[in-house]
Amino acid sequence: MVKAVVAGASGGIGQLSPLVDELALYDVVNTPGVATDLSHISSTAKVTGYLPKDDGGKIAFKDADIIVIPAGIPRKPGMTRDDLFNINAGIVKGLIEIAAEVAPKAYILVISNPVNSTVPIAAEVLKAKGVFNPQRLFGVTTLDIVRAETFVAEIAGKKTGSELTVPVIGGHSGETIVPLFSKVSPSVTIPDDKYDALVNRVQFGGDEVVKAKDGAGSATLSMAFAGYRFAEKVLRAAKGEKGLVEPSFVYLKGIPGGEEIAKATGLEFFSVPVELGPNGAEKATNPLTGITEKEKSLVDVAVQGLKTNIEKGISFAHNPP
Ligand code: NAD
Ligand code: LMR
Repeated sequence: MVKAVVAGASGGIGQLSPLVDELALYDVVNTPGVATDLSHISSTAKVTGYLPKDDGGKIAFKDADIIVIPAGIPRKPGMTRDDLFNINAGIVKGLIEIAAEVAPKAYILVISNPVNSTVPIAAEVLKAKGVFNPQRLFGVTTLDIVRAETFVAEIAGKKTGSELTVPVIGGHSGETIVPLFSKVSPSVTIPDDKYDALVNRVQFGGDEVVKAKDGAGSATLSMAFAGYRFAEKVLRAAKGEKGLVEPSFVYLKGIPGGEEIAKATGLEFFSVPVELGPNGAEKATNPLTGITEKEKSLVDVAVQGLKTNIEKGISFAHNPP
C-alpha cells in the first residue's frame, strides 16, 4: 500500500493524480472540492481532502510514503523566484515540520520556489527534528529537464523530446540552471550559432511562461507533467524497478557518490543525476566529468548563485523572522 500526500493540492500544480493506493490532499483552501473531483477518476486510489482545521495537516501527512509539496505563491511578471522567498519559506518550513513529526520516513519532493532555498530549509528543519535522511529529500528540477528535452528536440529535428535524455544540473533558477548538451543521449549536434540562445531558453523557460500568462501565475500544466514524471519514478524505484535515473536538487553529502561533487563545487546542495531505488537517492553521478569549457563556465556562474540561495535558506531555518 502506498500513501501519497500533495500539500498545496488546490493550486495549479497540485491537481495531479499519482499512481497510489491512498491520496491525501492538503491545502489551506478548497481540498474538499478537489478531492471529490479526483475521487471520480476510475483509479484504485482512495482520495481524501484536508484543511488546516482539526489538525488536518497531521492527519493528511500521517504515515505517508511520499509527500509532494507545491504549496506557496507563484511568480508574476517582473519577479524572480527569490522574490517568493519571504512567503514560501515559512510555508515550506511549516509543512516540513508536520512531515518530520508524523511521516519522518516519507520521500519528500519539494516543488515550492525558490527550490534553491526551500530545499535547504527543509533539510535544516528535518535535521533539527533528528529525522533528516538526505536520500529521501528531493528538490524537483524535472521541469528544467523536460524543457531541455523539448527545446533540444526542436533544434535537433527529433519528433519528440522524450526520445532524448538531456542532463540539466545545478539549481532551479535562471543562471543556476545548467544544461549539459555535450551529454545528451543519443548525442546531438547543437550548431554554434544556436548554443547560447538554447542555454538561455532552458535557463529562463519559467520566465517565458510567466510572461505569456501575464499575471495569471507560472507554469502549472508542464509542471504537473514534470512532477508526475519524477514522483512516479520515485515510486517505481521504491517498488524495486532498476535503472531509474533523474536529476534532482539534493543534499550531496548524504548520498553515495555525492561527496566528490560537494568537494568539486564547494556546495552542500546541487542538482545531479541520481539513481533511484528503495532507499530513495541510491547514488549520485558526478555530472562534471568530461564537460566542455563552455559548460564549465556555466557551472562556475551557477555555483556562485547557488551559494547565496543555499545560505539564505539555511539562515532562515535557524533564525526565522
Ligand atoms: P497556486 O497559487 O496555483 O497554488 C499554490 C497552492 O498552495 C494554493 O492552493 C494555496 O492555497 C496553497 N497553499 C498556500 N499556503 C499553504 C500552506 N501553508 N499549506 C498548504 N497549502 C498552501 O500556485 P502554483 O502555480 O501551484 O505554484 C505553487 C508553487 O510551485 C510556487 O511556489 C511556484 O513557484 C512553484 N513551482 C515550481 C516549479 C518547479 O519546477 N519546481 C514549477 C512551477 C511552479
Ligand atoms: C518554472 O520553472 O516554471 C517554475 O519554477 C515557476 C517559475 O516561477 O518560473
